[in-house]
Amino acid sequence: MTSNRADIVLGIQWGDEGKGRVVDAFAKDYDLVARFGGGDNAGHTLVVGDRKIALRIVPSGVLQERPQLFIGGGCVVSLDGLVEELDMLASIGVDVSRIKISDRAHVVFPYHAALDRASEKARGDAAIGTTGRGIGPTYTDKVARIGISFGELRKKEALADKIRYNIMSRSSQFAVMDAAPREEDVIAQTLEALPRVLPHVVDGVSYFHEMLESDRRVLIEGAQGTLLDVGYGTYPYVTSSSTIAGGACTGLGIGPTAIGRVVGVAKAYCTRVGAGPFPSELFDSTGDALRSRGGEFGTVTGRPRRCGWFDAVATKYAVRVNGLTSAVITKLDVLSGCEKVAIVTGYRSGGKSVGFESAGDPNLELELAWYDGWSEDISAIRKIADLPKNARAYVDALQHALGVPIDGVSLGPERSAMAIP
Ligand code: GDP
Ligand code: IMO
Ligand code: MG
Repeated sequence: MTSNRADIVLGIQWGDEGKGRVVDAFAKDYDLVARFGGGDNAGHTLVVGDRKIALRIVPSGVLQERPQLFIGGGCVVSLDGLVEELDMLASIGVDVSRIKISDRAHVVFPYHAALDRASEKARGDAAIGTTGRGIGPTYTDKVARIGISFGELRKKEALADKIRYNIMSRSSQFAVMDAAPREEDVIAQTLEALPRVLPHVVDGVSYFHEMLESDRRVLIEGAQGTLLDVGYGTYPYVTSSSTIAGGACTGLGIGPTAIGRVVGVAKAYCTRVGAGPFPSELFDSTGDALRSRGGEFGTVTGRPRRCGWFDAVATKYAVRVNGLTSAVITKLDVLSGCEKVAIVTGYRSGGKSVGFESAGDPNLELELAWYDGWSEDISAIRKIADLPKNARAYVDALQHALGVPIDGVSLGPERSAMAIP
């Protein structure tokens, strides 16, 4: 049987690249937009006209009328968070019956968030800087085979015992925290949420494959970023899911032959929120200027994002591990007004050239290529060729560094602020 192939849009830095904004712009041409991993640790901001919303778990195609929306089996979903987001979307006139959740997705319970925060506290100086949303503990339960899937929410008779077992399995940790959840409260809260949640739950594998087999156009939306991938990011300073293109296969139950384009989203500079290696981080007034001009404060936690120059070593690594076919650059407008801009083109350690695997090396030295800046307001430009000469030269340098074509350059948060080739 021949099926359509699904395209992927994912982040190729440490998250917050503007994936949501790019997916929103692309989604008008798709019949389905699907998330494959992560949970409400994600914060995807969309700006359409005067409206600005931040999505945590619902795919970023939701403000376009055409697509259905799917939260795939690789995701972990808080019931309260989901209901809150559905209510927020319904309140602005969105038809939320288009939103479906795979029976394979796992439930984040409030005690997972408590465990997340407690384990961060216990790590002290080695804290990861998680979003505190319970993502790590929920994936841990899934892998330990004690988690609860959305499919299991449908089997009400067995659910209370499953919740009790899940809590009991963590009892030694709760004892240390001195904060055991009250089982009966968790069960009651869960049962209360079910009438809101269950109408959205579908057999995820059939749902997704039937979309592909009926020739619908499918867009897969990444969350977090490649360098936060649990296996290929800057471990242990990573999230707990697979954020790379391969994760789209396992997160949706599809084979690699079902994938078409893989589009990587990168900021024209670099940011990171939370702890961990960030070789190109700027600790000076330039870093502060990027943060304030780029509004670099976390969507989920409000934390200031660490800022630095575009790191071509890191993004080339991301091109490889994702099999990228093209890229979209975001936030080029934020660099307007910089006298000079830089790209990290190489890492050196002990006098030798090293790769991204050495990102955490405390003796790392950076090779930088400098470019002349531009001062024009570029936000209204819609063709890459119309960018001021220095901005164009910088985009050419990014393209050269990535080694894949650039499909678009975002020049503002609003949906239409995108320059194309
Ligand atoms: P995501 O997690 O990858 O979807 O990104 P976030 O939404 O967390 O962070 C990106 C932020 O930058 C949001 O506040 C967007 O509205 C904003 N943004 C996206 N693209 C652009 C752009 O091209 N220029 C500017 N100035 N802001 C942008
Ligand atoms: P979007 O989809 C940026 C980071 C956290 C922390 C690490 C682990 O908006 O790009 P977790 O709560 O997942 O256990 O935290 O991962 N992190 C993100 N950083 N954007 C995100 O999502 C992130 N999701 C998780 O800051 O460093
Ligand atoms: Mg974000």
